[in-house]
Amino acid sequence: MQIIFCNKMQLLRKIYYFIPAEWRYTARRLWFLPHDIWYSISNKNELLPPKGMIFIGSGDFLAQGNRYLKFFIELGGLAPNHHVLDIGCGIGRMAIPLTKYLNEKGSYDGFDIVKKGIDWCDKNISSRYKNFSFTCVDLQNDLYKSNGDKASHFLFPYADSSFDFIILTSVFTHMMPDEIKQYCAEISRVLKSGGTCFATFFVLDDESEKLMEVDKKFYFKHDYGYYKLMDEKVKSANIALKKNYIENECLNRNKLTLKHHHKGYWCGRSKIEAIDFQDIMIIGK
Ligand SMILES: C[S@@+](CC[C@H](N)C(=O)[O-])C[C@H]1O[C@@H](n2cnc3c(N)ncnc32)[C@H](O)[C@@H]1O
Repeated sequence: MQIIFCNKMQLLRKIYYFIPAEWRYTARRLWFLPHDIWYSISNKNELLPPKGMIFIGSGDFLAQGNRYLKFFIELGGLAPNHHVLDIGCGIGRMAIPLTKYLNEKGSYDGFDIVKKGIDWCDKNISSRYKNFSFTCVDLQNDLYKSNGDKASHFLFPYADSSFDFIILTSVFTHMMPDEIKQYCAEISRVLKSGGTCFATFFVLDDESEKLMEVDKKFYFKHDYGYYKLMDEKVKSANIALKKNYIENECLNRNKLTLKHHHKGYWCGRSKIEAIDFQDIMIIGK
């Protein structure tokens, strides 16, 4: 039974990846159209996008945002007056709970490559919260956007040492190693000394690789040495990185330090031992 379920999930993923990047948004919009028509009539919460527009993954959108806000505060030391940068901010899943937490001395900047998400955030969040700002950047990613510049050469549009707290939730899990290295160099540049970066990964080490081989539900089968891919056709679909590559090549080279690694249960680790599906890294400068 478990094998059938597992294969069904893998098959659905394959079909989803088979559709060209831009068509996936339309497919999702159409699938949820009846729900969203009803939602537009009955909705009381303007700070919640229609289901058909939520392109960033499954699960309870608001509950996940609130859960992560708790992690930012308890694991990362986020404070209400912090200047926050949300890299790959999607359609505001992390920004929405932050509107109730950051005070007038604090600020939020988010950027993403998907214009539909940034437009929704501008219209619904920035219009109400003046210290919240969203920027669309024209970069390519084979899961989200078929054209644009290379992320591996991208310079963030912010001054040095601008931010106290930087967030990447489920973003490095969709970027290639050379892009992640470049983003870490930029994170180091725009993060204040003493600041914190909260980033999630799929981390490969002896333990997670062994567990994954047994569990095989969320399986990275294409091995490139220091990283593994779930799908060869859509490389950014899901990417797992070796822990020593993250620490040595991405963090330490850029004067960033791994302060804490909270291991995830994506690989089949018991949920009692893990606080979240993805690995959470608390990184300091
Ligand atoms: C799984 S979604 C997560 C979105 C958001 N962080 C959240 O937790 O709701 C991954 C996001 O990364 C964005 N992304 C992919 N490549 C990117 C890049 N090079 N720079 C910025 N964002 C990127 C995608 O457009 C997408 O919104």
